[in-house]
Amino acid sequence: MIWVLICLNIIVANAMNTTNLMDVWTDMFRPFPRNPKEGLIPDYTPLDREEFDFIIVGAGSAGCVLANRLTEIKQWKVLLIEAGGNENFFSDIPIFASFLSTTPLNWMYKSEPEKNACKNLRGKVCFLPRGKVLGGSSVLNFLIYQRGHPDDYDDWVKMGNPGWGYSEILPYFKKSENIRISELKNSMYHGKGGYLDIEHAPYKSPLEKLFKKAGEELGYEWRDPNGEYLIGFSKAQATMRKGRRCSSSKAFLEPIRHRSNLKVTKYSTVNKILINPDTKTAYGVEFTKHNKRIQVLALREVILSAGSIGSAQLLMVSGIGPKKHLLEVGIDSIADLPVGYNLQDHVTFSGNAFLVNDSSLCVNDLLAASPVSAVSYMAGRGPLTLPGGAVGLAFARSSLASDDHSATRPDIELVMGGGSLAGDLLGILRSLLGVTDQWYWKVYGSLPLNVRQNSFSINPVLIRPRSVGRLKLRTANFTDPPIIHMNYFHDPKDLKALVHGIRLTQQVIGTSAFQRYATRLHTTPFPGCEKLQFDSDQYWECAIEQTSITLDHQVGTCKMAAVDDKTGVVSPRLLVHNIRGLRVADASIMPRIPAAHTHAPVVMIAEKAADIIKEDWGMRSNSIYD
Ligand SMILES: Cc1cc2nc3c(=O)[nH]c(=O)nc-3n(C[C@H](O)[C@H](O)[C@H](O)COP(=O)(O)OP(=O)(O)OC[C@H]3O[C@@H](n4cnc5c(N)ncnc54)[C@H](O)[C@@H]3O)c2cc1C
Ligand SMILES: *[C@@H]1O[C@H](CO)[C@@H](O)[C@H](O)[C@H]1NC(C)=O
Ligand SMILES: *[C@@H]1O[C@H](CO)[C@@H](O)[C@H](O)[C@H]1NC(C)=O
Ligand SMILES: *[C@@H]1O[C@H](CO)[C@@H](O)[C@H](O)[C@H]1NC(C)=O
Repeated sequence: MIWVLICLNIIVANAMNTTNLMDVWTDMFRPFPRNPKEGLIPDYTPLDREEFDFIIVGAGSAGCVLANRLTEIKQWKVLLIEAGGNENFFSDIPIFASFLSTTPLNWMYKSEPEKNACKNLRGKVCFLPRGKVLGGSSVLNFLIYQRGHPDDYDDWVKMGNPGWGYSEILPYFKKSENIRISELKNSMYHGKGGYLDIEHAPYKSPLEKLFKKAGEELGYEWRDPNGEYLIGFSKAQATMRKGRRCSSSKAFLEPIRHRSNLKVTKYSTVNKILINPDTKTAYGVEFTKHNKRIQVLALREVILSAGSIGSAQLLMVSGIGPKKHLLEVGIDSIADLPVGYNLQDHVTFSGNAFLVNDSSLCVNDLLAASPVSAVSYMAGRGPLTLPGGAVGLAFARSSLASDDHSATRPDIELVMGGGSLAGDLLGILRSLLGVTDQWYWKVYGSLPLNVRQNSFSINPVLIRPRSVGRLKLRTANFTDPPIIHMNYFHDPKDLKALVHGIRLTQQVIGTSAFQRYATRLHTTPFPGCEKLQFDSDQYWECAIEQTSITLDHQVGTCKMAAVDDKTGVVSPRLLVHNIRGLRVADASIMPRIPAAHTHAPVVMIAEKAADIIKEDWGMRSNSIYD
């Protein structure tokens, strides 16, 4: 059925003379709501100069939560502005996550050429996908639900942010959550009845069992990675509802789309925050919708939830940012703040493939594209429900973690994928990672097709990075993508720690669990590293610099800090320093990246932000909407 629809889609796209296939898909699936209780969010076009109590910019992981929680107050009229359109049938399919980054649902940002990373990827730059759709990056993401380590948040407090300690934010994680994993329903770490569904993929990959056994052989427990201890092996918890993606939009927006005090305007790109330079008060925003410029006014606040790239860029084009840099691009400064600094991210090495001698273990393109998988997906089962293809996670400490005194705090994560880059017949994974076809054929081309299909990956992730990047404006125009320096591996310890991660993956495949299938690493050296001795530390450092990629966890560009801290952009109440009526609530406010995939922490930030806003306006913080 999916395949008939794809063909139909291409015919319709041709008939409509558009290359924007995703829009066509969206429209095609309008008559097929994904769940009878869900439906499309109505599009509202505001009048010029229309007034709202709150204007939220960006309907991503954070924006959808805020729109929901603020409209619980019936007398508050809220406008949510989103540059993208609707999710669709395809964006719901968990294993297709990487495919979505190749579509117009992605803003398609890229880094500048990096000194120590992405050296052999397309254009010699790192691809930085970001969602441009209702639900934002929670529609492109790999669905993995992780919160991090308690110290991550206690550190935020130590950095001058009271109220953000682990014991204070755990209730917000639980508030959003509807845990659907039966053995965790009574856990004190999980919430029931929230908007955001969390479950295990219904598909039990045979690799999962091996991964669990391998962990046990190495002395790690199989546990809840969002429970008491983080270090250990586990099955990935996912933002998923009955085998389908549960994005922030599906979770928080769709159930409340009929609230009369909420308006959502789609395909609307904000290009400026309106700020009175004399009173230094934000009073609205200007956006473009279908080539029309519209200004809307905020009676109480403008809230930026445009993400780590969008929010920083919007602040700067509106005159809030480093004064000297703004002058370079011809912008008068309204507030001189270090916007765009403190850019942090998780980088991973995903080029390796492990080969097995059994055809029933892995999930690569042929299995994913088979009609049998499509049919079982329609019933909410099968390999297509693997979150971004991930089978399991592990958290561990490398020897470089010793500068952290807490022995329970990991610095390396392993993401076990049911397939690998070798099995990427259709080129989708290559497009996501930015690996060239030439590279692919050179490294994996010598393997017969069936061998490439019987391969999986274990990707080590640097979850406590030391290197910090920076985002700058290219021009004063929001439509011009910003200049992004990720600075991956600027600190050599980061490179060393990730090599430790690779060694850990080798330990995992060396276990008797994996050796039952004669599991082995594919040993064709990576282009550019052939001269180094294969499997030496130097070789892996080279390989990492050639092809490591981001896990798309960019945070920190509008850093939260005490008002007198010169490195901060927003206060612990998320108000932009020295400006009235303007808050930021999204991934950009994180002072330090947590050892987590960042979607859940962003949802938590938005939940807490909503309570802070209600409190600041004298409202009760619990739900009074019925
Ligand atoms: C490919 C990929 C895989 C990932 N995998 C995972 C994972 O498995 N688990 C996990 O926890 N995290 C993952 N992440 C990260 C996680 O999804 C993000 O950290 C999180 O979604 C960020 O939330 P946000 O609200 O800050 O920004 P976003 O969710 O990006 O939302 C920002 C929204 O603002 C809109 N916007 C921006 N500028 C404007 C403007 N000027 N006008 C109007 N609208 C605007 C955007 O279109 C977008 O909808 C992944 C991310 C990506 C891209
Ligand atoms: C299709 O769109 C292109 C560009 O928008 C335009 O130049 C062309 O004339 C269109 N073709 C038809 C058949 O409408
Ligand atoms: C910004 O760029 C867009 C597209 O290039 C253009 O349409 C718009 O007029 C520009 N805006 C300004 C203020 O220069
Ligand atoms: C795979 O390798 C293992 C270990 O060498 C061996 O015992 C097993 O028979 C092999 N299986 C197949 C299907 O070749």
